[in-house]
Amino acid sequence: MVTGGAGFIGSHLVDRLVQEGFEVVVLDDLSTGSLDNVKAHMENPKFQFVKGDVRVRGVVRRVLRNVDYVFHLAAIASIDLSIRRPDLVNDVNVTGTLNLLEESRRANVEKFVFTSSCAIYGEPVKLPVDEEHPTRPLSPYGASKLAAEQYCDVYHRVYGLNVVVLRLFNVYGPRQERSPYGGVISRFIKRLERGLAPIIFGDGRQTRDFVYVGDVIEALMLAMRSKSCVGMAINIGSGVEVSIRELADKITRIFGLRVRPIFSRPRAREVNRMCADIRRAREVLGFEPKTALEEGLKACIKT
Ligand SMILES: NC(=O)c1ccc[n+]([C@@H]2O[C@H](COP(=O)([O-])OP(=O)(O)OC[C@H]3O[C@@H](n4cnc5c(N)ncnc54)[C@H](O)[C@@H]3O)[C@@H](O)[C@H]2O)c1
Repeated sequence: MVTGGAGFIGSHLVDRLVQEGFEVVVLDDLSTGSLDNVKAHMENPKFQFVKGDVRVRGVVRRVLRNVDYVFHLAAIASIDLSIRRPDLVNDVNVTGTLNLLEESRRANVEKFVFTSSCAIYGEPVKLPVDEEHPTRPLSPYGASKLAAEQYCDVYHRVYGLNVVVLRLFNVYGPRQERSPYGGVISRFIKRLERGLAPIIFGDGRQTRDFVYVGDVIEALMLAMRSKSCVGMAINIGSGVEVSIRELADKITRIFGLRVRPIFSRPRAREVNRMCADIRRAREVLGFEPKTALEEGLKACIKT
């Protein structure tokens, strides 16, 4: 079962699971996801799409029947919306996760994989950020992911559910542009496609760790299969720190344009620097990010 399977990351995971011959059921309310992302599988008898809300226990219970592995990706993944509607984000991201955990425990699922976020850390006090780094989220979104992680941990320790938490850094790749909260790479691409200069909030010296969606899917598959990761929280990033200015220049070069970026007011509640320490992912999962930024960016621009 993939919750949020019609979304950006979820739909890539569905592609991979179907390709490997798994029977896949998607639970998604299509609030930000799109059926377009999974339309390739609609005729496949091993694929089922259920339009429904993770907040509704009955629906979750029904869909979980005969499920061995749960990938829980459904969430409101917008920092801005979380600042405007912390209550709504708490309902979906925390209560929704609690529903999934409770029903997964009752259904005796083999493994529960939860996608958390580097937003739980807040502004780093040291770089790269390892999993023991203090957690001081700067948004209700980060707080909701942290609370959901805590429930995952409790369900492992109290009820023995085989849970693993992957803390994703800045994921990018094809289909991200379809999501309304597409992220900086798809925003830059959208401008450059029209010949317009990318807009940078702030001075562009802020940094992020961009990890290609294909590498994230590999990590999710490893987390499903690995026994040694149970009960752990694991960073999934590229381990490379890239400034937003550098990113804008790289994408502009790929487009072969000579425009210079436009600098705009910095956005509130954003961290200055971010970079993942991925030693745990390497050691426990055997994870190795394979897609260099240039290569991943070209894949986004082609589609
Ligand atoms: N994209 C990133 O850089 C990133 C980074 C860290 C963590 N994450 C996490 O990865 C997961 C997937 O993110 P994404 O970037 O693919 O976002 P997305 O918005 O494309 O996908 C989320 C999916 O969840 C569905 N959904 C939302 N609320 C729902 C509800 N109440 N019931 C059922 N389905 C619901 C949406 O329709 C959508 O298809 C999220 O949990 C997000 O917090 C993403």
